[in-house]
Amino acid sequence: MAIRTSLSHAQFRFVLTMVDPAYKVHVVPSMPSEHHVVRYKALRLQALQIDPECFSSTYDRESSMSNEEWRARLHSGDKVTIAAVTGASIQSLSESEMLNPENEWVGTVTVLGPNFLQIHAFSPPKGVQWVEENVKYYLFVGVWVHPSHRGKGLGKRLVSAGMDWVRVDEAGHNSADKQILLLQIMPGNKSAIELYRSIGFYPIESDKGATNTDIWMGMELA
Ligand SMILES: CC(C)(COP(=O)(O)OP(=O)(O)OC[C@H]1O[C@@H](n2cnc3c(N)ncnc32)[C@H](O)[C@@H]1OP(=O)(O)O)[C@@H](O)C(=O)NCCC(=O)NCCS
Repeated sequence: MAIRTSLSHAQFRFVLTMVDPAYKVHVVPSMPSEHHVVRYKALRLQALQIDPECFSSTYDRESSMSNEEWRARLHSGDKVTIAAVTGASIQSLSESEMLNPENEWVGTVTVLGPNFLQIHAFSPPKGVQWVEENVKYYLFVGVWVHPSHRGKGLGKRLVSAGMDWVRVDEAGHNSADKQILLLQIMPGNKSAIELYRSIGFYPIESDKGATNTDIWMGMELA
């Protein structure tokens, strides 16, 4: 289930690294090195420790995962993880920038594509209005920005970078396909709701009678 895109990897990474030189937004390689795995694991565990109420998973569960499990999480099929990294070097496209110890990983998002979701028997919330056969769902998960780096547009950049990946993901790229982006948010998470609303997501009615009170938001990718 290899993903081929109409943009080359280098072109796609260039698109993601053009803005705001104080931070770079990088795609974690789908064949991550040990260093990528270690740095992503540290970032994700930090997110679960600092903001446990924002995620359905827990620090206890994920801190016991082996490095192989972390690698499998990052390893592609039909999903991508993107990281925001500090570092003001000028327009460097070097992969090593991501792993330079001086450059901190401070934010992340993962996008699960339609093939991945199908294998994992994902079903969208009942309130989803897009149910035609040619609909391809994409689920955005694990959105997080370190508290010291919030309010600088990084959340928006990470989600926008995920949307750029969806635009070039061949799994949902037939001209007839509708690409529907979905997000699940814990109740009361106003900053996340405002972030997604500012990008164009809107609330989806939750399942009638469901005990799960999570909020869903979605949008059709233009
Ligand atoms: C939600 C989160 C990712 C936002 O990251 P961020 O980098 O601070 O967001 P941005 O700076 O890109 O903000 C973009 C927009 O989001 C909204 N927003 C972000 N934080 C907000 C807050 N605290 N209150 C209200 N609106 C907020 C605003 O509309 C903002 O646009 P503006 O700056 O033009 O007003 C970050 O607060 C976070 O990691 N929270 C904990 C984890 C979490 O909730 N993850 C989401 C799980 S679904």
